Amino acid sequence: MQVFYIVFILFPLYSSRTPACPRRCSCDLPRRVQCYRVGEMPKEIASTTRRIYISHSKIKMLQVTDVLGMSYLEEFVLTCSGTESVENNTFKALGALRILELWKNKLRHVPSSLPPSLEVLKLGDNLISILHESDFEGLKNLRVLDIQSNLILTLSFITLSSLSSLQSLTLDGNDMESVFGSSHLPSLKHLSMENNKLPSFPASFFTSLHNLLFLNLNGNFLTDTPPDLPKSLLSLKLERNQLKMLRAGDVKQLANLSELCLSENQISSVDGVQYLSSLTRLELAGNKLQAIPLRLPATLQKIDCSNNLIRQITAQEFRNLQELKHLFLDNNTVATFEDGALQKCTLLSNLALEQNLLSSIPLSLPHTLARLDLKGNSIQRIQEQELSNLRHLQVLNLRNNKISSLDYSLLKYLPRLRYLYLDGNPWNCTCDLLRTRRALMAKGTEVKGGQCTSPTESQGEAWMSSQRILRVCAHHNLYAADVGEENGKKSNVDETFSVRGNTDDYYDYEID
Ligand SMILES: *[C@@H]1O[C@H](CO)[C@@H](O)[C@H](O)[C@H]1NC(C)=O
Ligand SMILES: *[C@@H]1O[C@H](CO)[C@@H](O)[C@H](O)[C@H]1NC(C)=O
Ligand SMILES: *[C@@H]1O[C@H](CO)[C@@H](O)[C@H](O)[C@H]1NC(C)=O
Ligand SMILES: *[C@@H]1O[C@H](CO)[C@@H](O)[C@H](O)[C@H]1NC(C)=O
Repeated sequence: MQVFYIVFILFPLYSSRTPACPRRCSCDLPRRVQCYRVGEMPKEIASTTRRIYISHSKIKMLQVTDVLGMSYLEEFVLTCSGTESVENNTFKALGALRILELWKNKLRHVPSSLPPSLEVLKLGDNLISILHESDFEGLKNLRVLDIQSNLILTLSFITLSSLSSLQSLTLDGNDMESVFGSSHLPSLKHLSMENNKLPSFPASFFTSLHNLLFLNLNGNFLTDTPPDLPKSLLSLKLERNQLKMLRAGDVKQLANLSELCLSENQISSVDGVQYLSSLTRLELAGNKLQAIPLRLPATLQKIDCSNNLIRQITAQEFRNLQELKHLFLDNNTVATFEDGALQKCTLLSNLALEQNLLSSIPLSLPHTLARLDLKGNSIQRIQEQELSNLRHLQVLNLRNNKISSLDYSLLKYLPRLRYLYLDGNPWNCTCDLLRTRRALMAKGTEVKGGQCTSPTESQGEAWMSSQRILRVCAHHNLYAADVGEENGKKSNVDETFSVRGNTDDYYDYEID
């Protein structure tokens, strides 16, 4: 929309230099007319015009006479203008028309007799409830058809059978309850039917889509994986449906599949992924898995199994996954994490284990980790051998655990630590903890420390910034010198520091 604003501001300038340009329009480039807030279709548009853009206007009806004789017109865009109807044959004679966009209007029908030159047709956000076979007759060059957010409840794909060049079809957000007929769309690469109410697909629906690469069926009522998915698929999205399992028979042909999104279903078992020999991304968040699926393909780079019911993590599950970079296991019930379970994942940089039942930091995590989230577990103690391998760690989140002490000597194992979250733990604010505070300040790590639970006289004090604890410990000979040193240093540590907005939800994939 910004373009239109700019055009509007510049309009008086241009209109004075180009007297032939219609009122409230700008004709900045030769053969291009842009109009904004017009009350009717401008009359004086030159017949040599190639591109017309009109938006935020009031044009109730589009008529044959509005574009009559514009035989050079390639692109016609009329959006957000309350258009309710298009007179029959309005576009029929426009032999050069390639792009027609009429989105965000009030159209009830696809305009009739569209010219065979048409390549892109966008009719999203209208009131179209039915598609007829005759609507698309002869559109042999149509590549892109977007009819999202209309009122189509049921669709026979026979209707679309003349679209032999169609590459991209978008039918999102129509509340569609059924589709039938088979889809003879030999060029189709991209099919999106997100946010409808489809419970199933006819048996051979996908069989003839030999070139389909991207299929998005997120947000439907599917209880099963659609049958006969084409081998060509690169991306399959089935999030927010009602799937209970993934069967080998449904997916084993998908050898080129790179992305499989199954989050937010009710999946309790997954089979067949071992055949997906190109899979790099597997999304299974918000299902009912009790364990990580076995025999995952070695090509995987990202696995999201957060919000499931997984109880333990074993080396067996991860022994093949040398390419894995991102692993999300947050919000499960993991209580057992086998020592070295992820040791074969020698590229792993991001591990999310928050909201589980771990009582210690897992042992022998890969040294490549840059980010480790253990927020909301039951960790009481941090030990040397747990951290000794983590020399690339940049972000460590231990918020909301049961940790009461942290030995300063452990910090030497984390030379790259930039952010440390320790709040929500029952800190025992001894003078030893002050030593840790000093070591963290010296490293320049940004720390969220939290408050002391004990001893009684320090309760509620923020241990990373409290002057009071400093004074108490000043009485100990050992720390007398330290106090002066710390006070003199300009510190970037504070209980109120902030790291790039909301650090709770901050996942840096490209941390190095
Ligand atoms: C427009 O065309 C449709 C069929 O293509 C026809 O049913 C309708 O009567 C026509 N309308 C007018 C006003 O001619
Ligand atoms: C799978 O991908 C390869 C390499 O891009 C390609 O040559 C092959 O045709 C694809 N297979 C299918 C069934 O599309
Ligand atoms: C944790 O997962 C459960 C489903 O297993 C879900 O209902 C809940 O909202 C999730 N909690 C968070 C904080 O994501
Ligand atoms: C805090 O640490 C001191 C010194 O190590 C110890 O004596 C005390 O019992 C600890 N308090 C709690 C509540 O753990």
